[in-house]
Amino acid sequence: MQMIYRNRTRTPQTTVAFFLVILIIIALITRWIDIIPFGYFFQSIITGSRNNFKLQESPQIYSSDFNCSLNCSETSPLPKITINSLPESCPEYFRWIHEDLKPWKETGITQEMVEKAKDVANIRITILNGRLYTEKYKQGFQTRDVITIWGILQLLRLYPGRLPDVDLMFECDDKPVIKKKDYNNKNTNASIPPPLFHYCGDESSYDIVFPDWSFWGWPEVNIKPWEILKEELKEGSNIIKWEDREPYAYWKGNTKLGAARHDLVKCNKSEDGKARIFNLVWKKEKKQGFNSSDLASQCTYRYKIYVEGLTWSVSEKYILACDSMCLIVKPRYYDFFTRSLLPTIHYWPINETNKCRSIKFAVEWGNKHTNEAQEIGKAGSKFVQENLRMKYVYDYIFHLLNEYAKLMKYEPIVPEGAEEICSETLICSVKGAKRRFRKHSMVKSPSNSLPCTLPPSYDSQDLRGLQERRENLTKQVAMWEESERANTRGQSILK
Ligand SMILES: *[C@@H]1O[C@H](CO)[C@@H](O)[C@H](O)[C@H]1NC(C)=O
Ligand SMILES: *[C@@H]1O[C@H](CO)[C@@H](O)[C@H](O)[C@H]1NC(C)=O
Ligand SMILES: *[C@@H]1O[C@H](CO)[C@@H](O)[C@H](O)[C@H]1NC(C)=O
Ligand SMILES: *[C@@H]1O[C@H](CO)[C@@H](O)[C@H](O)[C@H]1NC(C)=O
Ligand SMILES: *[C@@H]1O[C@H](CO)[C@@H](O)[C@H](O)[C@H]1NC(C)=O
Ligand SMILES: *[C@@H]1O[C@H](CO)[C@@H](O)[C@H](O)[C@H]1NC(C)=O
Ligand SMILES: *[C@@H]1O[C@H](CO)[C@@H](O)[C@H](O)[C@H]1NC(C)=O
Repeated sequence: MQMIYRNRTRTPQTTVAFFLVILIIIALITRWIDIIPFGYFFQSIITGSRNNFKLQESPQIYSSDFNCSLNCSETSPLPKITINSLPESCPEYFRWIHEDLKPWKETGITQEMVEKAKDVANIRITILNGRLYTEKYKQGFQTRDVITIWGILQLLRLYPGRLPDVDLMFECDDKPVIKKKDYNNKNTNASIPPPLFHYCGDESSYDIVFPDWSFWGWPEVNIKPWEILKEELKEGSNIIKWEDREPYAYWKGNTKLGAARHDLVKCNKSEDGKARIFNLVWKKEKKQGFNSSDLASQCTYRYKIYVEGLTWSVSEKYILACDSMCLIVKPRYYDFFTRSLLPTIHYWPINETNKCRSIKFAVEWGNKHTNEAQEIGKAGSKFVQENLRMKYVYDYIFHLLNEYAKLMKYEPIVPEGAEEICSETLICSVKGAKRRFRKHSMVKSPSNSLPCTLPPSYDSQDLRGLQERRENLTKQVAMWEESERANTRGQSILK
């Protein structure tokens, strides 16, 4: 008390000097305790950072040194920790979890239903008492399946002891596979589709949407884990102010994937075209050390186009994160967060049958309405920067698995032929970029806050309202486009 009292009478300079000395002493102490083993714990409280992880929020952290000579069954289970803080509520898009699981709401999920998906699934994932077992049915593309398992293992590290036992089938290719039309006979057992997890869905499928692997990094094409890339994109979008960016619509990617992209290339050629389209040949990129595909340095255009490839594309979050107005060519597929994006609020809708004209109009509109265009750009970025924080990606999976487990009508067991996989296995078995990305995306400490609280399901009126709102907003743009066209027609007649 006396100290504080006396401090008041000091000059500001001496007070600053005093705190500097204190800070230096603290720094020295933390250096020192770093040498002793439990220094880790103290250091985490005092300095709040090691491996760039926010430790002040967390009472304990996991050892970052894996013992690679242990097999999974020898690793000790992660203890559940007590959490006292009240959870916040989840973003709106979590409500789609209820929609995705609706087909099994009345019937529940039986073992037969799950196993019916064996023929189409790449892997089966079974979680029992916080341990993960997997069985591989068919080889998927690159390491999508393994990274997906890695993601779930990290979830188990984030919320130790809180995940229910589950047994599920996962499909890792591009296209949704459980077609609605195959299960529309209400009176037979065949009317119930097999529950299958997948990265995307569409209006005609029952696939249960699960965050794609790219959130933990895509080592094959050098796309870093989202937690890191998200920050890089935030910095990248601060480099050039919106007004100073190229006043065109930019897209760079693999133009060979899908008809829509093929079509988009044509917009590059048109004389007064406002599109700047660049093809990315990943094989060549790899040879050049990925020197022209860095995402954070691509925030240099006022407008950025999103177009689907074979189905959904992992690029949507990167494109939205640039503070540029995102021009979304009407998508057919959705992933776990995109169903809550709204046209003219988070992005600008582009007519899929008339892309070039529609892009041209969007760019001209934005260059005339720069404030509005910037606002749309900012709203899209804010959506991904805030609602798509890694914590929410984990929370989404947490709730999805939790709701799924509630529907399960059986106690899962380790399937015959399944093997246990743990973070150790997946770190120790790889090197290079794969290992680096896994180390970067590893959950370093259990969460000290609970998963956010899951919002209730939509009722049919909510859903209709949402769809109508989306349609109305899109129609508005179509009308502007149309009247602009009528005007220019009028002008050319006058000329
Ligand atoms: C790793 O595990 C092996 C096998 O249990 C054990 O002999 C060894 O001492 C452990 N190494 C470390 C550094 O803990
Ligand atoms: C893992 O270690 C345990 C205990 O040492 C042993 O019983 C088990 O056979 C090992 N499993 C594998 C797959 O090596
Ligand atoms: C099919 O439905 C009947 C009656 O509804 C039920 O008894 C039977 O267990 C079901 N079979 C499967 C494989 O779900
Ligand atoms: C689009 O045009 C630019 C500039 O003329 C060119 O550099 C680029 O290669 C073109 N893109 C494609 C996919 O042809
Ligand atoms: C990338 O590297 C290749 C070959 O090393 C070089 O030709 C090219 O100019 C580089 N591109 C950029 C954008 O730095
Ligand atoms: C959509 O537009 C129609 C007709 O303009 C209007 O009646 C309706 O309230 C709008 N719906 C929403 C959700 O904005
Ligand atoms: C897209 O353009 C086509 C052709 O001009 C038009 O028929 C269609 O109504 C447009 N779609 C939307 C959603 O505006």
